[in-house]
Amino acid sequence: MSYALIRPFLFGLDPETAHHAAFAALDAQARVGAARLWAGRLPKKPRTVMGLQFDNPIGLAAGLDKNAEHLDGLAQLGFGFIEIGTLTPLAQPGNPKPRMFRIPEHDALINRLGFNNAGVEAALPRLLGRKIATPVGVNIGKNAATPIEQASSDYIKCLRAVYETADYIAVNVSSPNTKNLRDLQAPDSIAGLVRALVSERELLHKACGKLRPIAVKIAPDIESAQIAKVVQAICDAGADAIISSNTTLSREGVAEHAHAQEAGGLSGSPLRERADRVLEVVVKAARKVPVIGVGGVMSVVDAQRKLDIGAQLVQVYTGMLYKGPGLIGDLVRGIRV
Ligand SMILES: Cc1cc2nc3c(=O)[nH]c(=O)nc-3n(C[C@H](O)[C@H](O)[C@H](O)COP(=O)(O)O)c2cc1C
Repeated sequence: MSYALIRPFLFGLDPETAHHAAFAALDAQARVGAARLWAGRLPKKPRTVMGLQFDNPIGLAAGLDKNAEHLDGLAQLGFGFIEIGTLTPLAQPGNPKPRMFRIPEHDALINRLGFNNAGVEAALPRLLGRKIATPVGVNIGKNAATPIEQASSDYIKCLRAVYETADYIAVNVSSPNTKNLRDLQAPDSIAGLVRALVSERELLHKACGKLRPIAVKIAPDIESAQIAKVVQAICDAGADAIISSNTTLSREGVAEHAHAQEAGGLSGSPLRERADRVLEVVVKAARKVPVIGVGGVMSVVDAQRKLDIGAQLVQVYTGMLYKGPGLIGDLVRGIRV
């Protein structure tokens, strides 16, 4: 199978239609076990992070499979872990379309989807019924209609709903497309939110006997002098990992492009340098707390750089759209562990 032949067809469609077409094809292949042909022969490159065992450190970043509808196909592509979501307590449509823009000249995307998802309850049967051995993290957020002052009650609702079935929970306080969400990253706010989630987790742990790790996903746009403070606040409050990072509001590297003025978060190649600069600071500040590196991974070199900086795990989103589903197998084979 050659993605080079398929890509022009997909890129001829608007990005959201292409997304659905690509997943329809992947799901059909997965049903007959053929999606694993994209991965090829995969070596095991095992890692234990947050107390979980991963066959390899390459994961899917949140946002591609928001409602956990494509787990079989994604697992066959060779991911060491899959993060679904962002899920919110109630279903919501997200922002009006168009809300996703390709910048092919730079292997980049701008999106302002705004947490379009079917709500946390709708994903539960698929999470509970999954057959795959690949660890699945669930990324949680708040509904657009929930005032920011009441955000923690949305996160707690989601934590309770997915606790038994998620391998880990990712707390998304860094999407640029939900009003004021990033304010939750202020050291006092994030410390309060993480403490509330960790104490709720204690109750859930007692009730079901399982201890689920909590990771916090941060933005690459935190002022550099603040990053270490934010990370220390997250770690001191008891989080088990940091995910660094979400999309950027910066337009560095794409400023001349017609789509550069679209509101939303930029991902892909132009994010890489910024994400790696932030990752360095995050890894140092997090000390023993593991860090998951994400942002602009298009090649083995890019993934290796994140591992060399000190990320324990690496996630990919935009790279899959530009390089195709074979990228995952290539990364797993190519990285040194
Ligand atoms: C279309 C799109 C939707 C996304 N949705 C989410 C989301 O729902 N939750 C989240 O935490 N991150 C979301 N992200 C951010 C990615 O998970 C990732 O952090 C970011 O895109 C940087 O990685 P990349 O350069 O490999 O794409 C989204 C990214 C894109 C491109």
